Amino acid sequence: MMQEKSHQARLEQLGAYPFERLKKLFGGITANPELTHIDAGAGEPRLPLPAFVADTLNTHIGGFSKYPSTIGGLELRGAIANWLMRRYDLTSVDPATQVLTANGTREALFAIAHALVNPDCATDDKPIVMMPNPMYQIYLGAAYTAGAEPWLLACNSETGFAPDLSSVEKETWQRTALVYVCSPSNPTGWIADEAYYAELLALADEYDFYVVSDECYSEIYWQEKPVGLLQVAEKLGREGFSRCLVMNSLSKRSALPGMRSGLIAGDAELIKRFTKLRSYTGPATPLPLQHVAAAAWSDETHVTQHLDVYRQSLKAFFDVFGGQIPAGSFFVWLPVTDDEAFAKAAYSQQAVTILPGSYLGAEDEQGINPGSGYIRAALVDGPDSAAELARRLKAVRI
Ligand SMILES: Cc1ncc(COP(=O)(O)O)c(C=O)c1O
Repeated sequence: MMQEKSHQARLEQLGAYPFERLKKLFGGITANPELTHIDAGAGEPRLPLPAFVADTLNTHIGGFSKYPSTIGGLELRGAIANWLMRRYDLTSVDPATQVLTANGTREALFAIAHALVNPDCATDDKPIVMMPNPMYQIYLGAAYTAGAEPWLLACNSETGFAPDLSSVEKETWQRTALVYVCSPSNPTGWIADEAYYAELLALADEYDFYVVSDECYSEIYWQEKPVGLLQVAEKLGREGFSRCLVMNSLSKRSALPGMRSGLIAGDAELIKRFTKLRSYTGPATPLPLQHVAAAAWSDETHVTQHLDVYRQSLKAFFDVFGGQIPAGSFFVWLPVTDDEAFAKAAYSQQAVTILPGSYLGAEDEQGINPGSGYIRAALVDGPDSAAELARRLKAVRI
């Protein structure tokens, strides 16, 4: 009975998901009917299907008659390991022990806290799961439901939108079990550099915690290709990527969000633990989709073409809107006076859907939500639409 109560309380800590809140915010208002609606709310790439998808699926369609294994077949894990080695210049990644497949990274980012955080550990205080604020809301949900205390690292103009590690006290690090990094960042576009990852890994060794790096937007950047956690770990000579896991996705890189396919890679010991949890939760990727995913990780032509479109879209937007192009991701993160009022006005006056930044953040102990006073718009419909979006956002009046 007691246990049931405490579980209920954990779930109750979760707020409504940002898009549910948005639906509620827009309740009773209509988009300007004289304009074609632009949906820049969700981070859903809307590019044509890469050419190999249909052929590969047809060739392997018979695989729907079989149960797939939860960890993913070796063909796909091999393609992922090869991609990681090519992309990050790694000397070796073992597909058998250092790679798992994910059904999109959302489920994996959520589940990992349940595998790595032990709420009953010996310390008197709850373990801490640290994360950027604003953040991909899954990290917050994962921390609460895993029985941890979320610790929010404010990312604002003062920190250059970096989650500020220097602001954390020793006692807090001592309770930390897991740190989520998101680079390139949704929503701010910040990119972690080598020094940032190195500092975090030194802290991880000193205070005994794990680092999970969400690198879903690694192939979408304005100028410099982002470094990855495993790349820095190898450069620092860390044996077997100790304490590190990365997650990446075909949703953004290959514009295949509906396929629900991603990767988990890093420290073999952590992979082993996660495999055990996943053998119960069972997020297996259907065999035909594993073949499509292997093809997608093995081809860079479509990724280069997508990057070109994202760069054109970013340029088109900022040519009209003015301001600085973000370092990574396809999001723009713009300061406004009142983010909810702005989002409502953008919808009713300009038929544009965007997200209030406060929905992507959480209030810290001082009651400050660093997402407040910003809106997030996704540039996912190509350069013409991005330019039109910029014109309409400029015209919004609140
Ligand atoms: C930062 C970040 N991480 C992870 C995901 C999850 O992507 P998927 O589950 O499609 O791999 C998203 C999706 O929007 C995201 O923005």
